[in-house]
Amino acid sequence: MDNKSFWSLLIIIFCAFQGILGQTCPQSCVRCVVDGLGDVTDVTCSDSRAFQLIPKTVQHLVFQNGSLPNGIVKDFLFLGISELESIEITNYHLKELWGAFLLNCTDLKIMDFSNNEIHSIMKSNFKGPVALEILNLEKNHINLTTDNVFENLGFLKKLHLGNNLIQTLTHNTFEGLINLQILDLSRNKISYMDGHTFQSLSKVKNINLSYNRIRNIPSGLFNGLSNLKMLQLSHNTISTISDNAFVQAGVITLDLSTNQLTKIPTEMLQQISGNKTEVLLQRNNIRMLQKNSLSNIELKLLNLASNGMDMVENDATYNCKIKYLNMRQNMLTTLPETMLIYLNSVIIPQVFLSTNPFVCDCDLIWLGKFLYQKSWKNIPKCSKPIELSRLNIVDYYNQYDTSCLTTTEEITTPFSTSTSRDLSPSSTNTQHDNTTSQPISSSQRQTTPSPTDSVNTKNNTSC
Ligand SMILES: *[C@@H]1O[C@H](CO)[C@@H](O)[C@H](O)[C@H]1NC(C)=O
Ligand SMILES: *[C@@H]1O[C@H](CO)[C@@H](O)[C@H](O)[C@H]1NC(C)=O
Ligand SMILES: *[C@@H]1O[C@H](CO)[C@@H](O)[C@H](O)[C@H]1NC(C)=O
Ligand SMILES: *[C@@H]1O[C@H](CO)[C@@H](O)[C@H](O)[C@H]1NC(C)=O
Ligand SMILES: *[C@@H]1O[C@H](CO)[C@@H](O)[C@H](O)[C@H]1NC(C)=O
Ligand SMILES: *[C@@H]1O[C@H](CO)[C@@H](O)[C@H](O)[C@H]1NC(C)=O
Ligand SMILES: *[C@@H]1O[C@H](CO)[C@@H](O)[C@H](O)[C@H]1NC(C)=O
Repeated sequence: MDNKSFWSLLIIIFCAFQGILGQTCPQSCVRCVVDGLGDVTDVTCSDSRAFQLIPKTVQHLVFQNGSLPNGIVKDFLFLGISELESIEITNYHLKELWGAFLLNCTDLKIMDFSNNEIHSIMKSNFKGPVALEILNLEKNHINLTTDNVFENLGFLKKLHLGNNLIQTLTHNTFEGLINLQILDLSRNKISYMDGHTFQSLSKVKNINLSYNRIRNIPSGLFNGLSNLKMLQLSHNTISTISDNAFVQAGVITLDLSTNQLTKIPTEMLQQISGNKTEVLLQRNNIRMLQKNSLSNIELKLLNLASNGMDMVENDATYNCKIKYLNMRQNMLTTLPETMLIYLNSVIIPQVFLSTNPFVCDCDLIWLGKFLYQKSWKNIPKCSKPIELSRLNIVDYYNQYDTSCLTTTEEITTPFSTSTSRDLSPSSTNTQHDNTTSQPISSSQRQTTPSPTDSVNTKNNTSC
């Protein structure tokens, strides 16, 4: 007898066996649903002995909290169960999947083998369930070293590989997944990806690469992924992003927080620029906003909080349109007046600046005036000089504006020639009529120029 007829015979015997024994609910199963025709359609079990008794009419099969001998799913386990639409074997100490163990399950849409100890998968594992739409293999020990494993899964929409041991991704890894929309690779050990890793995934919407060991984003990696909406790269050690990694990428939300970037990835921001785009860069090491680093960039949100940033260069925000700009919890002592052009060009921009050690001197008075005019909430505080640390930047503007106006030529701060005792407002101090701050007593009040009047006398050198 040749190999083929041997297997055919085995299948026939197996099917006959099933025909006799397999049409009722396995006794030890916790749940069993029978349809109007008397066929068992849903089975949920724990006891592994029930594997021998699975009714062949079953459509939804669940095994949880048990184990198979040696953790092996043998290749004839599901033979003849051809109406299967979903299979879940979770928390079952599975280690190995033998060949085409789902060969006859051509209607299978959902396969959940998460929470096991599977160490490798092969292309033949997916020979058969060609209509698969959801494949969940998270929380296993998969290293994914085999090329083209998913090649047969042209209808797959969701692939969950989070919490495995994946280290390397190449252009062969996801070959054939032309309908994939969601790819979860979070919490692996990925440190290398070649630039064509995602090239087959033209429909992908969401890629999660957070909690890996990625150090750089190679050229080409996300090029052309025009359907990409959410890309998560947080909690890696990314320090470089190739200038050609996001060409024609459609990212709307890009999370690059908690990485090791030292400068703004300007090329990348220009490539994904758009009025809905949100980019998270908090908790990196971007110490400086360099000249033109945000030039020609339109974003809904840019989060630069907690970067240890202590310098914003002139014209860093030249021709930039960012609606929400978060620069909280940095080391900023001042901001260049060129930012006014940006702040005035965006409709109701929200710039978050609290928790920075601002030095309230004449260089920053423009910001107090701007915030005063816009009546913003969350006005940042003065940190230095120490005598002003009770004030916020708007209070500072209200009280010290004219001292800057009258002395700009010789003196850059109202305090440079005075001791802290002299700080009580005198002839140089201005009090605007309605401020949120505690006004200085009205007896000390002098003339009250309107805020718009007061700036026009001092020309902005950078404009
Ligand atoms: C498996 O364990 C989980 C958590 O304890 C429980 O919710 C579930 O019902 C169990 N499944 C079976 C089939 O016993
Ligand atoms: C299982 O699938 C193989 C290949 O498509 C086919 O030859 C065989 O007849 C099927 N067996 C059953 C029991 O459906
Ligand atoms: C994973 O596969 C790579 C080869 O791509 C190998 O170098 C590495 O040792 C493997 N890691 C584990 C944990 O098996
Ligand atoms: C991405 O993965 C992380 C870590 O597993 C998780 O916390 C986060 O919710 C995931 N994001 C999405 C959108 O599923
Ligand atoms: C965003 O831009 C699109 C065109 O690019 C425009 O139609 C839409 O009104 C803009 N939305 C906002 C909120 O500015
Ligand atoms: C000043 O008064 C105007 C009108 O009464 C009000 O809209 C504005 O919010 C006030 N500004 C401040 C800083 O309180
Ligand atoms: C400010 O600039 C305008 C034109 O740019 C000029 O007319 C005006 O005299 C300048 N004011 C001062 C105080 O330099």
